[in-house]
Amino acid sequence: MESVQLLVSRRDESEFYQQIDARSRCIRVSPTHDKVHSETQRCARAMITEKLVDNLTVVRVQKAIVDFGTLNVVLSIVAIAAVAVVVDYAHMLYLRSRMPPGPFPLPIIGNTFSLPNNKPWIYFEELSKKFKTPLITFWIGRNPTVWINDAWCAHEIFEKKAQIYASRPRMVVFGELGTGQDNLVTMRIRNTAERDHWRIHRKLMHLGVGVQAVRGYRDVQNNESKVVALDFLREPNEYVKHLERYATSVVSIIAFGRRVASYNDPIITEVIALMQLAADLNVPGKSFPMLLETFPFLARFPRWMPWFRGLGTRNQKGGHYFFHTLAEEAVEQYSTKTPSEQASMPTPYVQTLFNEAEKYNLPAGELSALTGNLFGAGSDTSSSTLITFVLACCAFPEAMKKAQAELDKIVGPHRSPDWDDQATLAYVNAFVKEVLRWRSVAIIGGQPHSPTQDDSYNGWLIPAGSWVQGNVWAIHHNDREFPDPDRFLPERYIDGSEHQRPFPGDRGYMTFGWGRRVCSGQALAEQGVWITIARLLWAFDIQKARDAQGKEIPVDIFAFTNGLNMRPQPFKCSITPRTPGIKETIVREGEQALLHLKILDGESKYRMSTFYQTQKRKLAEEPVLDEMGNVKIVKVK
Ligand code: HEM
Repeated sequence: MESVQLLVSRRDESEFYQQIDARSRCIRVSPTHDKVHSETQRCARAMITEKLVDNLTVVRVQKAIVDFGTLNVVLSIVAIAAVAVVVDYAHMLYLRSRMPPGPFPLPIIGNTFSLPNNKPWIYFEELSKKFKTPLITFWIGRNPTVWINDAWCAHEIFEKKAQIYASRPRMVVFGELGTGQDNLVTMRIRNTAERDHWRIHRKLMHLGVGVQAVRGYRDVQNNESKVVALDFLREPNEYVKHLERYATSVVSIIAFGRRVASYNDPIITEVIALMQLAADLNVPGKSFPMLLETFPFLARFPRWMPWFRGLGTRNQKGGHYFFHTLAEEAVEQYSTKTPSEQASMPTPYVQTLFNEAEKYNLPAGELSALTGNLFGAGSDTSSSTLITFVLACCAFPEAMKKAQAELDKIVGPHRSPDWDDQATLAYVNAFVKEVLRWRSVAIIGGQPHSPTQDDSYNGWLIPAGSWVQGNVWAIHHNDREFPDPDRFLPERYIDGSEHQRPFPGDRGYMTFGWGRRVCSGQALAEQGVWITIARLLWAFDIQKARDAQGKEIPVDIFAFTNGLNMRPQPFKCSITPRTPGIKETIVREGEQALLHLKILDGESKYRMSTFYQTQKRKLAEEPVLDEMGNVKIVKVK
């Protein structure tokens, strides 16, 4: 047996030499071939030694199995596995006895298979009511996840203990197989080095979209929202595309100093599609690829296995650097502008980022992630919020009319509302807050938090490293804080109104998350959502569409998508300018805005879809010199 094995090994050895030799023949045409050749031989010897040792180990194991008897080996493995499952399950049940209540978990699979197919946040809200507790524990496989269904608990845990809840838990699908430790959104904080690393990323994000920085983007948001009004006037049926263009253009200007002028620009569809895929990969589920959270060991298999289907090309070499390539291109384009042109536009964030990168020694992948976050986190979220606003106007016209009455009084028809009006537009301000509360886009509060040490709440244990998620749906849907919660009622945010109820924090909603991981782009998003909603309310009557018989087509206020970032399912509506005077102002202001924005017009030569293919081709091929000294491209095995 042993000699057969060694024969096989010798054959392997000679095949190995042949392969190495074939490869080195290619390299030998280079002027430094002697050095490279001896290096190749040294590598080959090391690899062969390793292979021989591996083979001997296999032989020993095979011999031991024969001696012991195959059946005995199988029985022993089964017995060991059974004991491991029992011990593990006992540990799960012990933890369960100390953690917040929840449905009874099964060994290995926990509660995963009782998840609904859709919108698990509604199910978790129901569980919280059933168990009569604000916190519930739900086992995703062997991993306990704690769902916070109450605003006061979320505040106590995430805000008051922000220091220990600043980390993210282990996330197999979105984290380990996706963005990992390169990306602020999923970064875990398990030690001082990781904490420092995360702080650098937070700081760099803050430089781009912190409270101070975003004041510098007011002109851009103001002008872009005037263009949205013009677009609504010209093509009202394409309102979704106009809002997507607006949100993408604003983040593109901030990141790259380049606006997105047309809703046909592939960057919009590609980024939004990517974000929607990413958003789906954050919602607990009982089918692949989300089932990998229940069976994390499957994540160790090669990426062509069927359970990885649906994960896209994330984490494959080259994919991460798309935004880095865009950043390099943007810095180059910015450098070709004259000093006066540069002074009349915000400095692109990537320029700041490249200046800072040297200080922090940031690799390309991380720079790419920081830039990509602006796009990823900023475009789908803001546009979805604005689509929700359109739905709210259709479903609750009385609220829209009240806001318009206020705008008519304070602003009038000859100009549209501006930042200076904000302090006096109490009802419009309340309207915007209610949009953010009524159907919050990040319905499960974005990514989960995780305590860096064991914590306790109300006598329950929340173990270090566990997955703690704020259920924004349940929090914003609680009758105690928001009576009749599905009703769109801006009065909830009017001081002194009978509809106002106490709520932790000063904003009155938890749409942007909590504590140290609160949304980095909150200031930018709130600013942009405000100016756009105020302007569209002033400009248009947004109503239910009518069919051929003139009958109103109803809208469904529960028909939303299932992702981490939810938005209304497509619906028809009618968008008409409110008066001829207002129509005139929309056109005048919109055209002026386009002139102001002209300096930011520009194009990128890269497309996300083709970029991946080009990268893949580059990785699969390499240039070598042939016998005549010419460069030729060969496939890499
Ligand atoms: C309406 C718009 C938006 C909403 C509702 C929203 C919501 C959220 C939520 C709920 C989180 C998770 C917070 C937590 O873990 O506690 C988050 C994280 C984040 N958001 Fe936003 N976001 C919006 C727009 C933006 C924009 C415009 C940007 C950037 C330009 C941005 C960048 C980020 C980043 C980088 C994180 C990760 C922060 C971290 O993990 O430390 N977001 N966002």
